[in-house]
Amino acid sequence: AKLLVLHGPNLNLLGTREPEVYGRTTLAEIDAGLREHAQAAGHALDSLQSNAEHVLVDRVQAARTDGTAMILINPAAFTHTSVALRDALAAVAIPFIEIHLSNPHTREPFRHHSYFSDHAVGVVCGFGADSYRYALDAAIKRLAT
Ligand code: DQA
Repeated sequence: AKLLVLHGPNLNLLGTREPEVYGRTTLAEIDAGLREHAQAAGHALDSLQSNAEHVLVDRVQAARTDGTAMILINPAAFTHTSVALRDALAAVAIPFIEIHLSNPHTREPFRHHSYFSDHAVGVVCGFGADSYRYALDAAIKRLAT
């Protein structure tokens, strides 16, 4: 199947951005690891990072017709702000898993609310770059059933 990984704003800076919160793994390393793992399980994985809300909305809309079976998304700061991205995911009706490197629930109160969690298949947070890997394992398992 086809999997789509979406990364929100500032995640292009992973590796150097607040490493005590987000770790030292770069986004390129995360994407390469995910692609390899997905391919080994017989799936194709496409990924996109953007700092722009409309680029992420457009990519979600495109997923409606490109055969994407499941979306893995770290909306980053848009987690707490973006009705538009939430609506896009609802519109395409493709199941998605919400991912965070940190555990937002242990952080500032404004990070405790997500516009995505109540529509997500599941949420993986708090495991650094491994959060993506655990989410991919969950997606692969779900696609097999
Ligand atoms: C994040 C958590 C968000 O609160 C924050 O705005 C991010 C990254 C995470 O992966 O831990 O940019 O989504």
